[in-house]
Amino acid sequence: PVRPVLPPDILARKGGAPLVVLTAYSTPVARLVDAHCDMVLVGDSVGMVIHGLPSTLGVTMEMMILHGQAVVRGTQKAMPIIDMPFGSYEESPQQAYRNAARLMAETGAPCVKLEGGQHMAETIAFLTARGVPVMAHIGLTPQAVNTLGGYKVVGRAAEAEKVMADALAVEAAGAFSVVLEKVPEGLSRRVTERLSIPTIGIGAGVHCDGQVLVVDDMLGLFTDFRPKFVKRYAELGKAADEAIAAYAADVRARAFPAAEHSFPDELPVKK
Ligand code: KIV
Ligand code: NA
Repeated sequence: PVRPVLPPDILARKGGAPLVVLTAYSTPVARLVDAHCDMVLVGDSVGMVIHGLPSTLGVTMEMMILHGQAVVRGTQKAMPIIDMPFGSYEESPQQAYRNAARLMAETGAPCVKLEGGQHMAETIAFLTARGVPVMAHIGLTPQAVNTLGGYKVVGRAAEAEKVMADALAVEAAGAFSVVLEKVPEGLSRRVTERLSIPTIGIGAGVHCDGQVLVVDDMLGLFTDFRPKFVKRYAELGKAADEAIAAYAADVRARAFPAAEHSFPDELPVKK
């Protein structure tokens, strides 16, 4: 079935009201995000956030398909996007097409996202021409952490020209939108003004056409990961810790379960 929001609808929102995006990895969280956001991203951040991997490099097609299916099931009005995992698209446009088509066919998502600028332009054009809408992702590209040398800001000084060239290349290749990650705010403003496709920022300042965050980060589900660009809108990790501590104390004190959580041996007699 055709979804209510498709990549051309997102493209048409360039310069309009800011696009709101969060990640999700499960059906219940996708439902929460769907109620308030324009797009829901099944990020390969799932590897670090949900599976405890040290980086996104160990994320597999199977993981993206399983979490993608769960998220698409929980998404009605927002548009789902699935990240292509490391190693599934970089080799050739053909390899990228095979895996992108599999992600879309097996999850029902109407598009994919992949990392890379000028060097991925040929692949983005190949996919777009064959029914696979692509959201690009430039600036800090976490799958390239080992060549970038860490999760640093990308685009200061001489690097700014490369980020601009990457943005222009993915636009020319047919990407319907582009994520700018950890790009200085002045540069992301110039990129946003220059492009005719929406820019979605994460750690890229307020001038992008939209914003994305990892949902677990903004809900405060971690205590140890606090990057500067994440605003915590809740402290769910603290709330969960307190709830689990209270449960453990209740069980140890035989205060749980109480009578109301237990089943009597005889059903009460109705009068
Ligand atoms: O994997 C992810 O969550 C992402 C966003 C942070 C853009 O790529
Ligand atoms: Na990602």
